[in-house]
Amino acid sequence: MPDQRLEELRAEAAGLIAGAPGTPEIEELRVRFLGRKAELTGVLRSIGELPPERRGPVGQAANAVRQELERLLTERHATLEAAELEIRLVADRIDVTLPGDPAQEVGSLHLITQTRREIEDVFVGLGFEVLEGPEVEFDYYNFTALNTPPGHPARTLQDTFYFSGDVLLRTHTSPMQIRMMESREPPLYGIFPGKVYRRDSDATHTPMFHQIEGLAVDEHITLADLQGVLLEFARAIFGAEREVRLRPHYFPFTEPSVEVDVSCFNCGGTGSLPDGRRDPLCKGSGWIEILGSGMVDPNVFGFVGYDPEQIQGFAFGMGVERIAMLKHGVPDLRMFFENDVRFLEQFGR
Ligand code: PHE
Repeated sequence: MPDQRLEELRAEAAGLIAGAPGTPEIEELRVRFLGRKAELTGVLRSIGELPPERRGPVGQAANAVRQELERLLTERHATLEAAELEIRLVADRIDVTLPGDPAQEVGSLHLITQTRREIEDVFVGLGFEVLEGPEVEFDYYNFTALNTPPGHPARTLQDTFYFSGDVLLRTHTSPMQIRMMESREPPLYGIFPGKVYRRDSDATHTPMFHQIEGLAVDEHITLADLQGVLLEFARAIFGAEREVRLRPHYFPFTEPSVEVDVSCFNCGGTGSLPDGRRDPLCKGSGWIEILGSGMVDPNVFGFVGYDPEQIQGFAFGMGVERIAMLKHGVPDLRMFFENDVRFLEQFGR
């Protein structure tokens, strides 16, 4: 092939490449000038058929043209590709701040989330930090280290989902007491919100529900500190007029143990409504039970290597659903998990 024809090919291709309007055209030109059936490819393939003295010069010239065309194709492709992307970005630009069509209501946080955050805010304000722990837990943390050894009757009070002999879904958030004490040194002030699981199901029990645990460990902690903290909490959540009372109770991991009541916010603690009827919320007692608590049992400190002669602590655990039901008059626990928007949107904010 004469050099002149090579030069013609090069010039023709270079002109077309420079004028190609888009990347598809570039691909067409690549096939046309460098593809298997292209004239240039034919030249390169048939070099061997040339007289020996022509092979070197023709091969070099043809290769030089091929390399130049490859470079031009690649450069033009990149330029066009960038321009096409730019056009697409401009064309596809959407204003995510426009309302939908038709406009959709903005959702809101689930009442349980709202309640959990409200409770967290109260305790954060009192100097507690918020920690979360595993829902799949070891028997050791859920029971044994909480002074509830295998065979202890208190284990049967919490019907439990076991995975295997020593792994289970936690039945309460109390294992986080142990985990926090194991990983830190006192003073400790923590609350532990999260899901817990029990084999229960009726109007006041669902297999999954939420608790918030609290733990304070320091020198000179007494039951009066517990009462003061819980009074603060009760007033923040249920109203500034509230009182709390502690009733003796039993938990394996606290000693003494107490159940805590808040004075009824429906009747102001009198037990009767303005019209003289018995208040159905507190069943006429003027008090509503809100949580379980007590002073950390010295045996529990033994499991984490703390000296009960040096430090004391209190712990409490409350059900988030229970607090939300009381506060908002929700009659059935299961409503929280049925996801009926007519229920949920009543608490939108
Ligand atoms: N873990 C107990 C329960 O779920 C509540 C509790 C927590 C009691 C902390 C005392 C101290 O019933």
